[in-house]
Amino acid sequence: MQKISLNIPQPDITYDIEFLKTFSELEKNLKSQINGRNYIIITDENVFSKTAFFQNIKKSFLEENRILVLKPGEEEKTWSSIDKILEKSFKLELDRSSVFVAIGGGVIGDMTGFAASLFMRGVPVIQVPTTLLSMTDSSVGGKTGIDNKHGKNLVGAFMQPEKVICVQAFLETLPKVEIQNGLGEMIKHGIIASPNHFKHIKNTSKFWNQDEFLQQIFQLVPESVKIKKNIVEQDQKEAGIRGFLNLGHTYGHAIEQLSDFKIPHGRAVAIGCILATQKSISENLCDENLIKTLEEIFTLFEIDTKCEFKMDKILNAMTHDKKKKNGKIRLILPLEIGKVKYFDLQ
Ligand SMILES: NC(=O)c1ccc[n+]([C@@H]2O[C@H](COP(=O)([O-])OP(=O)(O)OC[C@H]3O[C@@H](n4cnc5c(N)ncnc54)[C@H](O)[C@@H]3O)[C@@H](O)[C@H]2O)c1
Ligand SMILES: [Zn+2]
Repeated sequence: MQKISLNIPQPDITYDIEFLKTFSELEKNLKSQINGRNYIIITDENVFSKTAFFQNIKKSFLEENRILVLKPGEEEKTWSSIDKILEKSFKLELDRSSVFVAIGGGVIGDMTGFAASLFMRGVPVIQVPTTLLSMTDSSVGGKTGIDNKHGKNLVGAFMQPEKVICVQAFLETLPKVEIQNGLGEMIKHGIIASPNHFKHIKNTSKFWNQDEFLQQIFQLVPESVKIKKNIVEQDQKEAGIRGFLNLGHTYGHAIEQLSDFKIPHGRAVAIGCILATQKSISENLCDENLIKTLEEIFTLFEIDTKCEFKMDKILNAMTHDKKKKNGKIRLILPLEIGKVKYFDLQ
């Protein structure tokens, strides 16, 4: 079994991120990680009804009454869901020695982590990410939280998990657009820190739309996780380089908003990366060919990078983004594949 250890120096926290192929391996691994503790599992309706992990539940060690199935979607990332998690935890008579288990995408992972940080002032959480995005990005690094009327992820806590378990079999039921959302983040990791990772992702496009693709891309999940791990280890609270992970996101969030969230996150990030590169070129910070290199990789995975919104509208929407620094909009601009820098818009 492949595994990566992540260490945060202050406070000293170390945990493993493990990579498994099958649900039977997950079952064994999860059982030994829970290790007799009282537990609650939080998932959503799609993961519960579509994945074989939950369909075979009667044969597993899991007790059905310990599973809380929430509605899927970003709209559910609210206080009311946190309340449901806490209520169910009290009903199950969980206490400080218990453990929370998130089995779902980034929405379930972020909410479960946040609820775990609140319950009895903090209980451990095991993250089992079930989307490509949550495996490569959201389950690692300890940012947890919910949305409110003022914006996304504005209320939350840093809550590092005690373990992250990524399982290839979860990818089998993921809709294509969710695979593309994950690819958006993986390509972003390549642009930020690794020409090799970028190249490896590009190579998997030979298998795009074939069954083989899931296995090929899952093999690259650890590479992507390592890039995020290296950044988080140096800067857990985003005082410095963790902000690089926002590449493509400042433009991207504005584009998602302008489209009334009809443009999927992966595509918005891809467009954001292209706009950041255009800006970088206009500031003489990178080679013009970088645009083509990026357009090519996104197109190979059928991610459309054409932007239908005018720049003044995008900039206006960006003014309301929380990633402003001292009132200025802070962008991440690529210099070449594997290198980025901060750039404050005047
Ligand atoms: N904490 C962080 O550092 C961080 C980083 C990036 C993103 N995020 C957050 O992550 C969230 C996005 O995560 P996401 O893209 O995983 O979205 P998601 O959790 O909404 O999952 C996407 C969709 O796929 C479904 N699904 C999940 N697993 C499935 C499976 N195995 N088979 C079939 N369907 C499945 C879900 O029900 C949902 O409809 C956002 O809320 C974002 O803010 C957090
Ligand atoms: Zn993202």
